[in-house]
Amino acid sequence: MDLQLAGRVVIITGGASGIGRATADDFQREGARLVLADLQPAALATAVAELRAAGGEVESEAVDVRDYAACERLVARAVDVFRRVDVLVNSAGIGGVPALFTESKPSDWGDLIAINLLGVLHCCRAVVDRMIAQRSGRIINLASEAGKGNEKRIVVYGATKGGVISLTRGLAVELGRYGITVNAVCPGVTRTPMTSYITDEMEREWARMYPLGRLGRVDDIAPLIAAKMLTPLGKPAANAPKHFAAVEIVDRAVNAEWLSRATRILAKYWLTKNARRRLAHSLNCSKNSVSTS
Ligand SMILES: NC(=O)c1ccc[n+]([C@@H]2O[C@H](COP(=O)([O-])OP(=O)(O)OC[C@H]3O[C@@H](n4cnc5c(N)ncnc54)[C@H](O)[C@@H]3O)[C@@H](O)[C@H]2O)c1
Repeated sequence: MDLQLAGRVVIITGGASGIGRATADDFQREGARLVLADLQPAALATAVAELRAAGGEVESEAVDVRDYAACERLVARAVDVFRRVDVLVNSAGIGGVPALFTESKPSDWGDLIAINLLGVLHCCRAVVDRMIAQRSGRIINLASEAGKGNEKRIVVYGATKGGVISLTRGLAVELGRYGITVNAVCPGVTRTPMTSYITDEMEREWARMYPLGRLGRVDDIAPLIAAKMLTPLGKPAANAPKHFAAVEIVDRAVNAEWLSRATRILAKYWLTKNARRRLAHSLNCSKNSVSTS
């Protein structure tokens, strides 16, 4: 199926890892030109090298999405190199440390809110003027199943993702008239570096709750993101409703009951040394790689 992506310019935040990285592969296969943004310069350089080796036109920018000026520089870079921005995929995010709200402190929440919620707002704000001027654009935000039915131990993470769903809906209504659609994808638990704390034992128990009998893979999610391009880019039809907007939240056959069971399993295994060691490692990787772009 032709997604009409050949030559399109696609910015992917969090593009060095996990879902963002897999999405870069999918868009590149469709002929898009990419600008990857991430906090981890080394992982970013590897991703760019791999994509270029596969024949892609790829640029990158070390960006901390918490910093609005850096997000503006990212968009300016894409425009400077490729003269336009057709698609923004907001995949940069963190999972944080699961904990009961009563055990958490406000100082634990800052990065979750600043990256998962403010970071998405920053990138959307930085890109919309350009898309409005083009009268065309696609914004695709990585929300989460957790943003639709929050649960114990992930209250703050879920709140950030609920915020992403809400901002997606609001932006879609505001921007539809300019030929810009805004969508969110809501994955369930997906194996990526973010979920590297999941032990084999934990995965076996968790996977039983999934209709497919396994956790999600990036290859399940990335095609959903590319599929958000199916509405051809361009000006809205002359007879389009004034508030034309496309908001589509993709479920992975998961509901509130599932989430409740999932967080019980999380709690059961949470205190295992192995799971904590893996999570500490993945959090440290992120912290140590903060860059000043
Ligand atoms: N993996 C899951 O189970 C799952 C489920 C639902 C939603 N999501 C969401 O999908 C998105 C991608 O997650 P993933 O699983 O691919 O994780 P990941 O850790 O593999 O990738 C996230 C990327 O974001 C980057 N990043 C983190 N903070 C950043 C910052 N301040 N500025 C710029 N980049 C930053 C990281 O360096 C990393 O490369 C996230 O928004 C996440 O919340 C993931």
